[in-house]
Amino acid sequence: MSGPWVEKYRPNNLEEIVGQDHIVQRLKRYVDEESMPNLMFTGPAGVGKTTTALALAKSVLGDYWRQNFLELNASDARGIDTVRTNIKNFCRLKPVGAPFRIIFLDEVDNMTKDAQHALRREMEMYTKTSSFILSCNYSSKIIDPIQSRCAIFRFAPVKGNHIIKRLEIIAQKEELDIDIKAIESIVYFAEGDLRKAINILQASASVSEKITEESIHEVVSKARPQDVKKMINKALNGDFLGARNILREVMVVQGISGEDMVTQIYQEVSRMAMQDSIDEETYVNLISSISEYDFRIREGANPRIQLEALITKFLSKSRTD
Ligand SMILES: Nc1ncnc2c1ncn2[C@@H]1O[C@H](COP(=O)(O)OP(=O)(O)OP(=O)(O)O)[C@@H](O)[C@H]1O
Ligand SMILES: [Mg+2]
Repeated sequence: MSGPWVEKYRPNNLEEIVGQDHIVQRLKRYVDEESMPNLMFTGPAGVGKTTTALALAKSVLGDYWRQNFLELNASDARGIDTVRTNIKNFCRLKPVGAPFRIIFLDEVDNMTKDAQHALRREMEMYTKTSSFILSCNYSSKIIDPIQSRCAIFRFAPVKGNHIIKRLEIIAQKEELDIDIKAIESIVYFAEGDLRKAINILQASASVSEKITEESIHEVVSKARPQDVKKMINKALNGDFLGARNILREVMVVQGISGEDMVTQIYQEVSRMAMQDSIDEETYVNLISSISEYDFRIREGANPRIQLEALITKFLSKSRTD
């Protein structure tokens, strides 16, 4: 089967959802009790909010879940009135073959405050027959009267070991030739977003038969973390030419953009500070330089000249320390 793997491997039931155990446990109680309050799912992208809502609906509504489940995007281009009309039309009908109906409303944090107040009134009007599941990235953008009417579930970024497990299952089913180093590098770039991880896996499978760390880097078009690390260490040790050579190799040969380079330097420097391999004062000074050069590059200055200049800031650091 072709098509996106994120859909092909979207879990169909609560058991298959990874890394959100305490949420799944709480939700299973609603399945047992055959009733549920209004829910709010909040958290970053690609961690299972929509997937969990679908799996929950299938579990509580059973065979008739399709007839009793409505999925809407709150930031519908046709406007909030269309969304409300859809909700009204759906809620007016009695549930068929299931104890109640479920409305899943995505991206609620994109609704204006006025629209949220209108939504709140609708939620109240149909409490007898319907339950709402609202999904958003930031619960702070949701008005209090809605928050207080929902049981709130906070989804966390998916942990590395769970991402690895999920990718291994997909790799096995797709009969991919992939090593653990490549999987670990996907985890590094996915930053807790399982959708991103699966998309990187699929993209790299389509470019090469054997998936290695190299093919992953090609697909994400980011520099190898070890190159960035080597460059920074050389600079901190006063080896400007060595650091600059790595920078040129990465930017010219591998074609990494100036913006991506600054971001990766920032990530690496932050990691070094967390691991105490640079002291706090050095870290503070470097961050200040990084932010300045990041700004200049984004404003259109020549990225190679800017990055070489940024490297000199690392040099003077090692000398004054
Ligand atoms: N916890 C998870 N367990 C298993 N698969 C997951 C999980 N989270 C994400 N996925 C995979 O990633 C895809 C996207 O996840 P989903 O649509 O649930 O993300 P989301 O949290 O709703 O993101 P967004 O905020 O962008 O709407 C799913 O189809 C599934 O393949
Ligand atoms: Mg979603």
